[in-house]
Amino acid sequence: MITKPKGTKDIYGIEAKKWQYVSKVIDEVMEKYNYDFIRTPVFESSELFHRGVGQTTDIVTKETYDFTDRGGRNMTLRPEGTAGVVRSYIENKMYGNDNKPTKLYYNMPMYRYERPQKGRLRELTQFGMEILGTDDPMSDAEIISLAVNIYKILGLKQIKVNINSLGDEISRNNYRNALIKYFRPHINELCEDCHERLEKNPLRIIDCKVDKDKEVMKMAPKTIDYLNEESKQRFEKVKEYLEVMGIDYAVDPTVVRGLDYYNHTVFEIEAKVEGFGAQNVIGGGGRYNYMVEQLEGPKTAAIGFASGFDRLMLALEKENIDILVNNSVDLFLLYVSEDEKKYAAYLLNDLRMHGFIVETDYLNRNLKSQFKQADRLNSKFTIVLNDNDLKNNEVKIKNNATKEVEMVSLDALIYYLDENLTEEVCDCNLHDHGCNCEK
Ligand code: HAM
Repeated sequence: MITKPKGTKDIYGIEAKKWQYVSKVIDEVMEKYNYDFIRTPVFESSELFHRGVGQTTDIVTKETYDFTDRGGRNMTLRPEGTAGVVRSYIENKMYGNDNKPTKLYYNMPMYRYERPQKGRLRELTQFGMEILGTDDPMSDAEIISLAVNIYKILGLKQIKVNINSLGDEISRNNYRNALIKYFRPHINELCEDCHERLEKNPLRIIDCKVDKDKEVMKMAPKTIDYLNEESKQRFEKVKEYLEVMGIDYAVDPTVVRGLDYYNHTVFEIEAKVEGFGAQNVIGGGGRYNYMVEQLEGPKTAAIGFASGFDRLMLALEKENIDILVNNSVDLFLLYVSEDEKKYAAYLLNDLRMHGFIVETDYLNRNLKSQFKQADRLNSKFTIVLNDNDLKNNEVKIKNNATKEVEMVSLDALIYYLDENLTEEVCDCNLHDHGCNCEK
């Protein structure tokens, strides 16, 4: 038997319905925040990630899926979404659009050759968003609040937002140098990976999972102490806006992020629910004011966030959040004769085009088994098509909840179903997703 590759998942059945539901909620919220959907290629030239994500990051040095195509070009399956979005922003000259800033979101699979474990996959899905073309601290707060609000609307309660600032380029470089100076004499106390990180990417020592509890880490320099005045003030503004928006957060100097492109605000959102496992960061992001220029676009400030879809689904499961999935059909059509079956084919098509979920039998079952199938599908109504009724231009329809049976004229069938199937809901678009209205 051929099995799926390590670190990948089949999403099907109820789980697939839950995924679709969560994706729909994300689409609805993003629409409210006025973000446009973007889809970029699964593979891009390898150079994009080397230059965009950074040559020294774990992702680029150890985790990319690289291949040479038949034309001899070096290609990489995208390990994350931001570099591709920035490439597209530059290539399609979105910066020339008067409608600024550019607000984009995506929901797509990424590929990282990581050691698979719970919450850590090789094909992972991320939904994410980017604002390009503004350095306003309010946009930092918007991205963080948007991420939090999506989680809240979905029902998550046990999350924690950790924020930090790496400051501008000067502050970040000063901090980097301070870390090298501090850790060099302590290098033998650190893990193998941190030996390599010391010269290449010392910021990553700070969030090393292996060394995190060691004494040497406790005394390490803190980002906050290396921010210049301008960066400090900027960070204060971001915090003020978050407070105005009512977003709870904690300042955590160990949040430095694994990708090279960040400056100023960085943040991560953790799932705090019991039993989640070690990979409990369900999303992270930050400001990247230099990436557009590094990829040969015009100077453009930007900030973004991405959430692991798989980890989000795990968090929802661990918090026991009931996701509403439709596991019923509106109507099941039963038939015996070929003429009745033909009429079923006509009605199926017609009613589906009017927006109803209609099913019938495709296996030439006898009537008893067709009823069983209608039950399995939790059909709200059933119609047993009957040649005599059809001659009289009517059908017998049964409401399976109340067990009531009525004769309905074929001309009035759509009206009847409309009247009896539409539930009254409030005007609030978030009604299904946990709004607080009374209905
Ligand atoms: P990241 O922190 O590398 O950031 O990934 C974002 C989220 O994707 C993580 O917090 C985690 O939930 C999920 N994730 C990452 N790797 C895996 C994996 N192997 N399996 C399952 N889930 C995973 C970025 O990717 C940035 N592009 C975020 C960003 C957008 N920054 C600015 N704009």
